[in-house]
Amino acid sequence: MYYLKNIISIVLLTYWLSGCTESYSSGEQIYKNKCAQCHLEDGTGLGKLIPPLAGSDYLATHFEDLPCIILFGLHDSILVDGQLYSEPMPPIPDISPEEMTNLINFLSKKFLQKKNYIPKDTIEKWQRNCTNSKR
Ligand code: HEC
Repeated sequence: MYYLKNIISIVLLTYWLSGCTESYSSGEQIYKNKCAQCHLEDGTGLGKLIPPLAGSDYLATHFEDLPCIILFGLHDSILVDGQLYSEPMPPIPDISPEEMTNLINFLSKKFLQKKNYIPKDTIEKWQRNCTNSKR
């Protein structure tokens, strides 16, 4: 009986861990398909045209705006790590809530080295704050 309990725990743990890696690699895939052509695979951006995501102070301080930035694009002049950027980012609207969750968790881990998982509910709450009029 005792062994059985251990085996069940191990099976559950493996299942849970594989779920985590799966959502990370799904987020990574979405990043490669929809973002990397501009921000580059390693998130370093492109000179004065495309801002970096890796270590970006803008990303860190506007993290809750991410769903809105992704869905509606960004048409402001912004400062990222002391550099001014004013090329517009186009909207990327064809993204499901699951994809959005995986993508944002990937960005948070990969580019800001955060360890906490952000649940879909939280991301959907951030998304409800989008005011697309100013974008
Ligand atoms: C066609 C090129 C292009 C694509 C594709 C693109 N971006 Fe951008 N992104 C830009 C540009 C240009 C800016 C600067 C916008 C401005 O100055 O208003 C920007 C700004 C940003 C910013 C805020 C500034 C920073 O560097 O922290 C974030 C965050 C961001 N993009 C995330 C993403 C994500 C996530 C994706 C994919 C879902 C994506 N972008 C796809 C061009 C792009």
